[in-house]
Amino acid sequence: MSFDFDRDIRREGTQSVKYDARRVVFGGEDVMPLWVADMDFAAPEAVTSALVERAQHPVYGYSLFPDSLYQSMIDWFATRHDWHIERDWILMAPGVVPSIHAAIMAFANPGEGIIVQSPVYPPFFSSVNKTGRRLIDNPLRLENGRYQMDLEHLEQCAAQGARMLILCSPHNPVGRVWEEHELRAVLEIARRHDLILLSDDIHCDLVLPGKRHLMLANVAQADDQVITAVAPSKTFNVPGLGLSALVVPDPDHRQALKQVFETLHMEQANPFSLTAFEAAYRSGGPWLDALLEYLQDNHRFVSDYLREHIPRISLIEPEGTYLLWLDCRGLGLSDAGLKAFFIKQAGLGLNPGISFGEGGSGFMRLNIGTRRANLQRAMEQLRLAVETTFSK
Ligand SMILES: Cc1ncc(COP(=O)(O)O)c(C=O)c1O
Repeated sequence: MSFDFDRDIRREGTQSVKYDARRVVFGGEDVMPLWVADMDFAAPEAVTSALVERAQHPVYGYSLFPDSLYQSMIDWFATRHDWHIERDWILMAPGVVPSIHAAIMAFANPGEGIIVQSPVYPPFFSSVNKTGRRLIDNPLRLENGRYQMDLEHLEQCAAQGARMLILCSPHNPVGRVWEEHELRAVLEIARRHDLILLSDDIHCDLVLPGKRHLMLANVAQADDQVITAVAPSKTFNVPGLGLSALVVPDPDHRQALKQVFETLHMEQANPFSLTAFEAAYRSGGPWLDALLEYLQDNHRFVSDYLREHIPRISLIEPEGTYLLWLDCRGLGLSDAGLKAFFIKQAGLGLNPGISFGEGGSGFMRLNIGTRRANLQRAMEQLRLAVETTFSK
């Protein structure tokens, strides 16, 4: 089977956040969008044909989650991650972010502490702040070019009466795929402090060769308090369809979450989301394997280009996700200056590192989920901007 990830698909005018919000976010439309975490690639053909078939039935009424949908997910995780999920453990949710909000509401009272590990996906902060819980940051440490968890500090955070840790695994934006010893250490700390672990594994299928993603739930013991969020949205590039799942083995946790889900009316099934979800998990495997090869080449291209032509910017070597974390501290700019430099001098729309927390100061996040020709153009624009601005 062959897949054409080089195909030029125009996304302008499709109500795409990445493309059509550029004027608002970057002040103009002549900026190449390499920000929001979706990819510019066509979804697997099996997804598109299932959606077309569903659309041809002209009644789009209230829907149910069929058994076959649950089975598609159970089979995917058993096959790809050697993780065995029981049907009863699964709660469907419109998105991972709403699930994080719901879990915080279910397991922590207002004012109680929730730990996050910055720099991290910004909704982790806002889900804590907006629900009136107390944000406890356990910053990651950059050591010899690789991010590490500060486990001693995590233990101190947990001892402050925290209720929950939201783990990002693999980690957006720093690209770490956590190793077994790291996950085990987190589990031990959680056990000692009665901490609930909400593991956001939305990027679990997007791992570079040589790395293996471990589901925290698979490393955990039966009585550990682990809840896992997964979705086909990043894996198969269907995030706009909005459907995810929480895997909650503990019946009391499930009950507490179900109550919040009901209160927020989060259980509604969209006929298109559920169609895409099942088709992706059932038939998307070969597409994903080809995608991972393409992403690996994109990563290599950027890595080589920066090393050869833009040594002032260095890449934190990614282990997973299609998001690259660029260390731009060598440019010597403030965060506002760095953002403006990328937009105005380089014509590139990336996510400023500072939006992921203070530890992201001086960094930019680059989305490589796009065709290689775009990345080539982006790197050339960046090289030219750096050479003209910092020539002396
Ligand atoms: C770590 C992480 N969690 C959750 C999401 C978004 O999930 P959803 O669209 O299902 O709310 C993203 C998207 O970038 C992400 O990177």
